[in-house]
Amino acid sequence: METKRWNANDDDSTVTAAAKMLQDGKTVAFPTETVYGLGADATNPAAVDKIFQAKGRPQDNPLIAHVATKEQLLRLVKDVPVYVEKLLDAFSPGPLTYVLKTSGVCAANVTAGLDSIGVRMPGHPVAQALLKTCDLPIAAPSANVSGKPSPTLADHVWEDLNGKISGLLDGGPTGYGVESTVIDCTGDIPVILRPGGVTKEQLLQVVEQVITDPALKNSREKPKAPGMKYRHYAPEVPLWLVYGTTQTIQEVVDSLQASGQRAGLLVGNQTASSIHCAEKILLGSNPAEVAAHLYDGLRTFKTGSVDVIVAEAFSEEGIGQAIMNRLKKAATKEIHSAE
Ligand code: TXA
Ligand code: MG
Repeated sequence: METKRWNANDDDSTVTAAAKMLQDGKTVAFPTETVYGLGADATNPAAVDKIFQAKGRPQDNPLIAHVATKEQLLRLVKDVPVYVEKLLDAFSPGPLTYVLKTSGVCAANVTAGLDSIGVRMPGHPVAQALLKTCDLPIAAPSANVSGKPSPTLADHVWEDLNGKISGLLDGGPTGYGVESTVIDCTGDIPVILRPGGVTKEQLLQVVEQVITDPALKNSREKPKAPGMKYRHYAPEVPLWLVYGTTQTIQEVVDSLQASGQRAGLLVGNQTASSIHCAEKILLGSNPAEVAAHLYDGLRTFKTGSVDVIVAEAFSEEGIGQAIMNRLKKAATKEIHSAE
């Protein structure tokens, strides 16, 4: 299959052409404020199936339906608790996905047969324009091959899916760099199933109580978001996640080098300045920058260039919860300083 690639910033006709492809039951990747999504008409089961095929995604992992407006969102769901109205007013459009009872408007394979559906109103102007133009709910997981880090650049999508999808709308780098927060709103108290762009601290400014799915802390529990059970965000080479001081990190790098292995450092700018290592990727000087550059960093270290990625463990406050959730999933080993 030939993949048509447009630059969304060229002119409006690119969005019109992409919207036409979606209406025709084809797959199109597009930018959102979190990561690139791989879209298809959520009401067309054959179109939705193409997403699973292109990504090699397990059939039991449900997709998020994307819409442009609150009215469209409410048509896809039923039994909406009062607190969801408050969350919608505060965070949508934005990086928050609501899991609610499905109204049945979307095809059964969007929800992988569950009676609930994840719905989100992205705020990215290109996503908004595309959703408004095609006037359909669009099912869209992250636009990567299943298991790889999510795409934060159109080139990441191209690397994974060129030849497997119909279109790619390039809108430049995405903003947040980590996916939306997925929140289960089917009960009396909202439950965070996946930490993401909207932090728990922000949610608590709008609703009194928020629970975090116990599976996020304890790997023996079964996660309620099917996608969270898979090893994800995996870079090509093993990743060691190091908790401790810069000295601990330096020791890990040194011992790798002593045994003839090439270490690639994945750290914040502050830490980078005090560690000696031939290969370094600097993620930024604050948590928002680290989130924005994380997936590109994970993709940049390839087999052949380094043998082990040595990553710094960051604070779990705010967006740090999402950063650390992804790093833990990407890690093949966690190292804690002896102390
Ligand atoms: O930021 C994002 O959310 C991006 C952009 C493209 O919108 N999308 C994204 O989709 O990350 P995906 O498919 O990669 O991740 C969706 C997550 C998975 O962990 C999935 O299991 C969970 O949401 N999910 C979807 N529907 C669900 C449902 N009905 N119940 C529980 N979890 C659900
Ligand atoms: Mg994904």
